[in-house]
Amino acid sequence: MENGVRPAENRRCFGFSRRHSLFLLLVLGVVLFVYCTNIRDMGPEWNAKEWMKNHSVKLLTVFGKQSTVSKNKGFTGSPDGNTTAELPETRSVTTTQEPSTRWQRTVSSRATKKTLETQTGQRTAAPYVSPGPYLVEYPYEYHFTINEELKCKQEKPFVVLMVQVAPRNRAHRDVIRNSWGSEKLANNQVVALFFLLGMQTGDDAEQVHQQLLQESKEHHDLIQGDFVDCYKNLTIKTMVMLEWLNSYCSSAAYAMKIDSDMFLNVPNLVNLLLKAPRTNYMTGLVAHGGAVLRDPKSKWFLPQEIFSESIYPPYALGLGYILSLDLTKKLIEASRHIKPLYIEDVYLGLCMRHLGISPTDPSSYSFHVFPLSYSRCAYSKIIATTCPQNMDRVWIWRDFKRPGRHC
Ligand SMILES: *[C@@H]1O[C@H](CO)[C@@H](O)[C@H](O)[C@H]1NC(C)=O
Ligand SMILES: *[C@@H]1O[C@H](CO)[C@@H](O)[C@H](O)[C@H]1NC(C)=O
Repeated sequence: MENGVRPAENRRCFGFSRRHSLFLLLVLGVVLFVYCTNIRDMGPEWNAKEWMKNHSVKLLTVFGKQSTVSKNKGFTGSPDGNTTAELPETRSVTTTQEPSTRWQRTVSSRATKKTLETQTGQRTAAPYVSPGPYLVEYPYEYHFTINEELKCKQEKPFVVLMVQVAPRNRAHRDVIRNSWGSEKLANNQVVALFFLLGMQTGDDAEQVHQQLLQESKEHHDLIQGDFVDCYKNLTIKTMVMLEWLNSYCSSAAYAMKIDSDMFLNVPNLVNLLLKAPRTNYMTGLVAHGGAVLRDPKSKWFLPQEIFSESIYPPYALGLGYILSLDLTKKLIEASRHIKPLYIEDVYLGLCMRHLGISPTDPSSYSFHVFPLSYSRCAYSKIIATTCPQNMDRVWIWRDFKRPGRHC
């Protein structure tokens, strides 16, 4: 049947040479458009660097004005530009105005495109431009594909534990559910637990998503945002976490972000927080004077062009940090002024500096980035530690919870 139709169509097409050439032109146009778009997508780093060079003068004048009110004593401006890129409020990338700089266009192109289309009904936006390897796509209006909208309202937790975990990593989630994640009450304070995920990509994406829906039905503790879940996107994950807390859990007093391979002493956490400030409070394992890594082979490499300072402001290491809930809104606001670096804990540190608030070391108990070897006594004095390799974490927790003296 198909074979019979095609030649006829072809003949008709060749018969009308005008229509034929119009068609050819159209094809050529599409090919050219796709080609140009690809070129732009393939050179994200080039774009970002080039842009920084071209706009460093503009940035310098912006910061020249701001630095008079800046609290940052140690800062010395470099001609490369103060690359923390704190932008004045009027340039917030979430406004519906056409972004005035290339960087903003980069991070907001998708949002802008949507806005322009709905406003004018025309497709006027520039093609999508990637933010490059050192920045992430934020701010952007991500949506929740799996959510627990009412749980906080119903349970009224004192502290919310937010575990960042990869969609595929059901094993880690189950270990947590069967260990410290099962502690729903400590010192008479309600503790809530959620796992935060992004979207799985790859061939089995749909299968993973179906499994997640099932898991969510069983446990009601999954929150999933519609961004790609990968290491480079952790800053997006953390900002989406803050947005979620702000929207669905703002009545809680504190939240703790924690990695999925950690041991958490929940009662100690609650004890600490019962004595902690209720506002402008962030604690964890705070890095002071952390050096910016300039070796391109480093996992946390940042080029000079993206971030020119050589020392990070104080920041709480991403393995586990705590914040008072009032900070979620403030950090989201601050993020509108800080270039979205891919290193999530450093990024929050920069947002904190923008707010003029320092993360503090915990007043009691400790955090451990290097695995603390297990003993009931040692683990009774901590908030959180990375778990020792090859040790059953559920076993550790059960042993720790046995009645009797710890030391
Ligand atoms: C930067 O400026 C140079 C010359 O002034 C120009 O050729 C180039 O296209 C600009 N790049 C960007 C990304 O604006
Ligand atoms: C990060 O997430 C955004 C939004 O989903 C996506 O466009 C981008 O490709 C992701 N980055 C990486 C490195 O996968």
